[in-house]
Amino acid sequence: MIDIGDNMSTGKKRKRKVKIKKKNFAIFILFIIFFTFGIVEIIFCVTKVLTVPKAEPKQEEKRKEIKPKTKQKEKEETPNNTDEKTKKLEKLENINQKLSYFNEDYIDRYIDYKEKNPSYQIEQIIKNVNMHLDQEHYENTEKATHLNTEKVLVNKHYYLEKDYVPDNLKTLSTQYAISNMKLVDVAKEAFEEMSKTAKKQKLNIIAMSTYRSYTYQIDLYNRYVKADGKEKADTYSGRPGHSEHQTGLAVDVYNEKETYTNFEKTKEFNWMEKHAHEYGFILRFPKDKEEETGYHYESWHYRYVGKEIATYIKDNNISLEEYYATKIKDW
Ligand code: DAL
Ligand code: ZN
Repeated sequence: MIDIGDNMSTGKKRKRKVKIKKKNFAIFILFIIFFTFGIVEIIFCVTKVLTVPKAEPKQEEKRKEIKPKTKQKEKEETPNNTDEKTKKLEKLENINQKLSYFNEDYIDRYIDYKEKNPSYQIEQIIKNVNMHLDQEHYENTEKATHLNTEKVLVNKHYYLEKDYVPDNLKTLSTQYAISNMKLVDVAKEAFEEMSKTAKKQKLNIIAMSTYRSYTYQIDLYNRYVKADGKEKADTYSGRPGHSEHQTGLAVDVYNEKETYTNFEKTKEFNWMEKHAHEYGFILRFPKDKEEETGYHYESWHYRYVGKEIATYIKDNNISLEEYYATKIKDW
C-alpha cells in the first residue's frame, strides 16, 4: 500500500495537521456557544411557564396608580410648562416675585379676574381673588382653618362643621351680658374688661348674642328667611355653619336703652369705635366693607381677634377678610 503521506513532504503534513486541529477547535467553540444559548433559552422558557402571571389591576386601581404620576408631572418644571408659567406671570406683571400672598394655584383665576376688571391694580386683583371675590357666595366653600384660635375666618366662603363647638366656652357675668351668654374664655375676659372700663364712664356695653350653635343658627336663619325671604336674609344672617357666632368669638351688643340696630346712634358706639381694639375687638361688618365681608353694615357685631390683629386692622382700615387674605392664610 502506498502511503499517501509518503508522497508528501513532512512540512505539508504538519500544515495539514494544524489545519485540522484549528477546524476541530472552531467546531468545538461553536458547539459550546450553541450549547450555552440553548441552556439559557430552556431556563428562560421554564421560568416563564412556572411563573403565575400577576392579576390585572382593576380599572379603578389603575387610575389611582396613574394619578400621583400625573400630578408629579404637573409640578415638574419642564421647558414647556415653565414657558407657559412665564407667559402667565407676564400677564400678571410678574407680581409673585414681590407679593408674599401670591398663590400660585390661583394663577388662572387671577388672570380671569384681571380680564374682567382691567382697571384694578394688580395687588387688588391678587387680594380680591384670595378673598374669593371672583366667586359667588356659598360657591366652592372651604372648611375654615385656624379653628380654636383668634385667627379663624368664617364667612360665605369658609364654614364650620355641624358638630364644631369651640373649646373653653365660658358664661359671661350678667353685669355685662344678658343671661346665659357664652364666649371663648379669652374673648370673655377681654369683653368683661372692656365693658367694665366703659361702665366706669357710665357707658353700658351689654352682650346680647354671643356663641350660637349650628342648630340654633338653623332656626334663626329659617326664621329670617320666613320673614324676609332668602335673598334679604342672606344680607344680614349667616347660613348654618357660616355664622362666626359659632366660633364663640363674636358678640352682638346693645346699651339696654336703644334697640341693638340703633347701636350706631349711642355714646357706647362712639366709645367702642375708639377703644374696642385695645381689648382685641373689631367692628366686624363695617359700612365700607360690604363687598369683602358679604354682609350689610352691622354697628352692633364685634369680633375678638386679639389686640395685635385688632390694632393692625383698625390702623390699616381693612376688614378681617383682607387681613386673612394677605396675612394669615398659609398659601
Ligand atoms: N349677623 C351675622 C352676619 C351672622 O349671622 O353671623
Ligand atoms: Zn352678630
